[in-house]
Amino acid sequence: MTTTFDSTLDRISATRRSNARLRRPHRTDIDRPHGPRRKDVLRMVARGDIPSVAFVEQFSGYLPLAYVRMPRGDLYFLNDPELIWDVFVSAADVIKGFGLQQARAVVGDGILTSEGAKHRRQRAMVQPAFTGRRIAGYGDDMLAAIAETDARWGRLSDSGAGRIELVDEMTTLTLDIVGRTLFGMDLAAVSDEVAPALAQALGVFNRTMNPRWEIQSRYPSRARRTLTTAVDQLDAVVGGMIVSKRAELAAGAPVRDMMSVLIESSDPDTGIGLTDNELRDEVMTLMLAGHETTSMLLSWTWLLLFRNPSWKRWVTEEWDASGELDVGAVAGMSRTRAVLAESLRLYPPAWVVDRISTADLVVGDHVIPEGQSILASQWTMHKDARFWPDPHGFRPDRWLDASGAYTEKIVPRGVYFPFGFAARKCIGDRFALAEAALALAELGRRWHVIPADSADVVPQPSVTLRPSTSLPAYLRRR
Ligand code: HEM
Repeated sequence: MTTTFDSTLDRISATRRSNARLRRPHRTDIDRPHGPRRKDVLRMVARGDIPSVAFVEQFSGYLPLAYVRMPRGDLYFLNDPELIWDVFVSAADVIKGFGLQQARAVVGDGILTSEGAKHRRQRAMVQPAFTGRRIAGYGDDMLAAIAETDARWGRLSDSGAGRIELVDEMTTLTLDIVGRTLFGMDLAAVSDEVAPALAQALGVFNRTMNPRWEIQSRYPSRARRTLTTAVDQLDAVVGGMIVSKRAELAAGAPVRDMMSVLIESSDPDTGIGLTDNELRDEVMTLMLAGHETTSMLLSWTWLLLFRNPSWKRWVTEEWDASGELDVGAVAGMSRTRAVLAESLRLYPPAWVVDRISTADLVVGDHVIPEGQSILASQWTMHKDARFWPDPHGFRPDRWLDASGAYTEKIVPRGVYFPFGFAARKCIGDRFALAEAALALAELGRRWHVIPADSADVVPQPSVTLRPSTSLPAYLRRR
C-alpha cells in the first residue's frame, strides 16, 4: 500500500494563485483610520523584522483600529474588543487570513484552513474525537506519555547530566500525546524527523509572511527549497502513518483512534471516502496544530513559574495535595488552571489571528473594503491596560473568585482569546488544557525545572510564539 499526495511545490503555487485571486486593489474613495507611518512599517519589512512582536505592538496605540497600506494590500489592525468580536464572531464575509493561507503549503486544505461547507463537514467528522468523554478517555495515554518524560528525566539525572532543552522536551511530550491519543501510534520513533523538519518549515514561515516571499516562492530560491524539503519530509512521515494505519485496519484492528475514524469515514450522500490528499491534510493539521502550541504553552509556563517563585510554591502546594490524577481531576485544580490561563494571557502561543474581508465590511465608523487583511493580536490585547490591571505582571489570582475557585470572568468579550472564536475556535482547547495541567502537576511534583538563562529569553514569534532560545534548563529532583 502506498499514498500519493500533491507535491509541495503544487501546494505553494496553488496558495500563490488563490492569494492573488483574493487580493483587491487599494481603494481611494474611502476614509481610513490612522496608523503607524508607512515608511516605518516598510522599513521593518525590508529588515525582515516581520513577524515580530514589535511589528504588532506598533499598531496597538491606535483606537479603535489602525490602518497601514502594505506592499501587497491594506492591513487593518483591531484594538477594540467589540470590533474584534464583530469581525471574528459576527461577520459572515471573512475567511482565514493571508498568514494562514500560507500555511496551506504545509497543512493543505484541512480543518484549520478550509472554509464554508467543506469546513463544516470536516469539523463534524473530527469533533467526536474531542468530546468531554473522549478527552477523559485519553487520560491514561496522556499520563503514560508524561511518565515516559519523567523516566527520561530520571535517567538523565542519574547519569549526572540533568540538563535538558526544555522546548525539545515539551515538543517530544506533546507529539507523543497526540500520537497515542489521536493516531493510536507511537510517534517517539519519528520525533527525530518531525521536530527538525517542523523547525525548518517554521523558520521559512517567517519569510512567507514577508512580501518578498511572493517572489522567492516563484523560483527555486533557497527559502523555497528549504520549505519543500521540510514539507516533503513531513509528508513522508504522514504517508507512513496512513499506510501503517490502513494495514492495521485491513488486518482487522478495531476503529479506536481518530485516524481510523477518518480512514473509515465516507460522505453520507456519495459513499465516497476521503482521498489520500484529504486524509493527509487532516492528519498533518492535527499533528502540527495539536502539539506545537501546547508545547509552547508548557515551555512558557515553566519559565514563568521559575521567574515567579512565590507563585511556583503556591501552585506546587496544589500538586502535592492532589492524589492520583486523571483528566477528571483537572476541573478541580483551580490554581493550575489559573497559572495556565495567566500563561496564555502573557505568552499566548497563538499570538495573532487574521482574516480577509470577502465583501466590504462596516467595522465601527469605517468601511474595510473587500480583499483586505484584518488582524487582531492576543499578544497586545491580552496586555491592554484598559482591561487588565497590572497587565505585565504574572498574577494567577486574577483568575480566582473569592472562594479560590477558578473562573473565566472575561470582561469585556473579545479581550482574551487564546483559542480563537466561535465556529473557528480551537477544536483542541480542552484537550490542550487537560494535557498541560497533567504534565505540569505530574512533572512539577517530582522535579524542579531550572532554566539556565531565563533573563535573556524573549519571544521570537513564528506561526506560534516561540521563546528565543530552546530554553536550556537543569533538573533537580524534589
Ligand atoms: C495551548 C494550545 C493551543 C492553542 C493556544 C491553540 C490555539 C488555536 C487558535 C487561536 C485557533 C483558531 C485560529 C483561527 O481562528 O484562525 C485554533 C484552531 C485549531 N486548533 Fe488549536 N490551539 C491549541 C491546541 C490545539 C490542540 C491540542 C489541537 C488538536 C489536538 C488543536 C487543533 C486545532 C484545530 C484543528 C483548529 C482549527 C479549528 C477549526 O477551524 O475548526 N489545537 N487553535
